[in-house]
Amino acid sequence: MSDKKLLTGEAMKQAVQEMNRPENREMKYKYVQGMFNSIAPSYDLMNTVASFGIHYLWRNKAVKMAGVKQGNTALDICCGTGDFSIALAKAVGANGKVNGLDFSSGMIKKAKEKIVGTKFEKIISFQEGNAEQLPFPDNTFDFCTVSCGIRNLTDLSRGFSEMRRVVKPGGKVLCLDLGRPAIPIFRTIYLFYFFKVVPFFGQIISNQREAYTYLPESLNTFPPQEELKKLMENVGLKNVRYKNFFGGAMALHIGAK
Ligand SMILES: C[S@@+](CC[C@H](N)C(=O)[O-])C[C@H]1O[C@@H](n2cnc3c(N)ncnc32)[C@H](O)[C@@H]1O
Repeated sequence: MSDKKLLTGEAMKQAVQEMNRPENREMKYKYVQGMFNSIAPSYDLMNTVASFGIHYLWRNKAVKMAGVKQGNTALDICCGTGDFSIALAKAVGANGKVNGLDFSSGMIKKAKEKIVGTKFEKIISFQEGNAEQLPFPDNTFDFCTVSCGIRNLTDLSRGFSEMRRVVKPGGKVLCLDLGRPAIPIFRTIYLFYFFKVVPFFGQIISNQREAYTYLPESLNTFPPQEELKKLMENVGLKNVRYKNFFGGAMALHIGAK
């Protein structure tokens, strides 16, 4: 990965498996950070094209289902360009507070630009940081959320553990991410779309085919819905449940502290 050779297909599959070994955590951290910095300028456009614009609906639905209310506080980790943080800000309103954290300076720059001159400027603070070592004390937030981000961490359990640590007792941890569709024919179409069509869009829109080959490949090593639920329970989260969207193509997991 350091020789700048373009990784696609089988080579990317092997690279993702290698990066997910515990001894290669530092390598994954640097690779993923560099990749998100490189796609930050075109991330929003690519997201809208690849999801046919419906990612906004899922975000708003997730926030509503979690019961986020006016005046609440929320930390959105792996916030990227800030769309989930903005969905949270709409729900917490002017008396609430949202912190968005991401380790990519490129993503944080885009997120900050997005809220300049809007009402969200007073509600949201974006900052750079590592989701696996959150720079916040225990029991700080009503909610801690992660949307399409937990897959990229070097240690998923550590990420969930940190999320649990920073929410108040009774607070909730939310994870919105790609799932595994249950219906076989739909799963086949879905995998074809992510493995073949998305890298093609990535090449055209952002000239970053490798990044958009990594992203679907990262799904291969990401636990399906039931396993993810167990992972959240194993860090001490209670009443963990999940809701499938779009036939299980996306899933929202919610657990309480
Ligand atoms: C697919 S993007 C999702 C962005 C956003 N949450 C959304 O829903 O559009 C994943 C984000 O996770 C961030 N990320 C990955 N590993 C991280 C880590 N260890 N600490 C902080 N951010 C991380 C990346 O920089 C990237 O912005």
